[in-house]
Amino acid sequence: MTAIPMGTSIVKKQIVAVSGLALVGFILAHLAGNFNIFLGPEWLNGYAKHLEELGPVLWLMRIGLLAAAIVHITFTVLVTIENRRSRGVAYAVAGSRGGTTFAKKTMILSGLMVLSFLFLHLSDFTFADKHGSASIVAGANGGESLGLYGIVWNAFLNPLRVVVYIFAVCCLGLHLSHAIQSCTQSLGLSDEPVLQRVTFASRVIGALAALSYASIPVYVIVRHFTVGIGV
Ligand code: HEM
Repeated sequence: MTAIPMGTSIVKKQIVAVSGLALVGFILAHLAGNFNIFLGPEWLNGYAKHLEELGPVLWLMRIGLLAAAIVHITFTVLVTIENRRSRGVAYAVAGSRGGTTFAKKTMILSGLMVLSFLFLHLSDFTFADKHGSASIVAGANGGESLGLYGIVWNAFLNPLRVVVYIFAVCCLGLHLSHAIQSCTQSLGLSDEPVLQRVTFASRVIGALAALSYASIPVYVIVRHFTVGIGV
């Protein structure tokens, strides 16, 4: 068996695939954690507290996540440049199967949208003062802070932010709908019947991820204007 030299496109595509799958893992785990919002402040705040209590392990996970994102973006850029130089193809991380789809054509754009969204998102929640005025929900909890739950609740009372989040998670869903099957191809899956099933699963996961993430801002704003926060 001949070793593949590090600089070849296939190795770069595999690096994009492995780092991308690590990011998919985070996206699904983060979604599961966020579902605590539907259960109320104790659940979401308790979940966030458990994560904080992981201390150095949490920081290792964050460093790993950041490293996966940097590697994913860097190698996507390298593969894109290589493909443009050699074939004039805009985006070939996608793999070698013929045919194109909207998701495939817009991979770079949807990826850039998600990246831009992350800056807004981290400033909204991660870097917010969890016990400051933004965590106090008007008319709830006797005017006391509701911690992270209060921050999330107040953030989604702004319809513009709700629209931006929904748009961003739709871009994420679109990206995932092509990315997952593309990763499996880059990692060597070539059996056509299996590929067809993976392609279908990839689209289902993308759509479900977008719908599930979007349900959170929609839940907050609809609940605010109907039954209220109820705390
Ligand atoms: C409606 C959708 C979303 C909600 C309600 C949400 C909620 C949150 C909250 C509350 C935090 C802060 C956690 C804390 O400080 O303890 C957070 C952090 C974060 N979110 Fe989201 N999120 C959403 C979508 C996303 C998406 C789509 C992505 C990625 C594409 C993402 C990536 C992150 C990252 C990277 C962090 C920082 C994690 C850390 O500090 O360890 N989020 N999110």
